[in-house]
Amino acid sequence: MQVKFIKKMKTNKERTILAIAKEMDIKIKAPCKGKGKCGKCLVKVVNGQVSELSKAEGKLLSKAKIEEGYRLACEAQIQEDVEMK
Ligand code: FES
Repeated sequence: MQVKFIKKMKTNKERTILAIAKEMDIKIKAPCKGKGKCGKCLVKVVNGQVSELSKAEGKLLSKAKIEEGYRLACEAQIQEDVEMK
C-alpha cells in the first residue's frame, strides 16, 4: 500500500530543483551542498522541460540514468511546469 502526497509551488524559471525543494521543505540528499560534485541529488523528471545537461551532469550521470530522465537537482533548472519523482 502506498500514499503519495503532491506538493506544488509557484516559482520563477531558471531556479535549480534543489533550491526549490529546499524552499518547499522537501529533503534531497546533497552531500556536496549543491556544488555538482557528489552526484547524490538525483531526481527523476517525469514531465516538463528543464535546462540542458550541465558538464557536471554529463560527468556524474550514466547514459542510462540520463535516458530514464534522471537529473542532478543542484544543476537542473526548471524551464516550465515540471513534475518530478
Ligand atoms: S548536491 Fe552534490 S551533485 Fe548535487
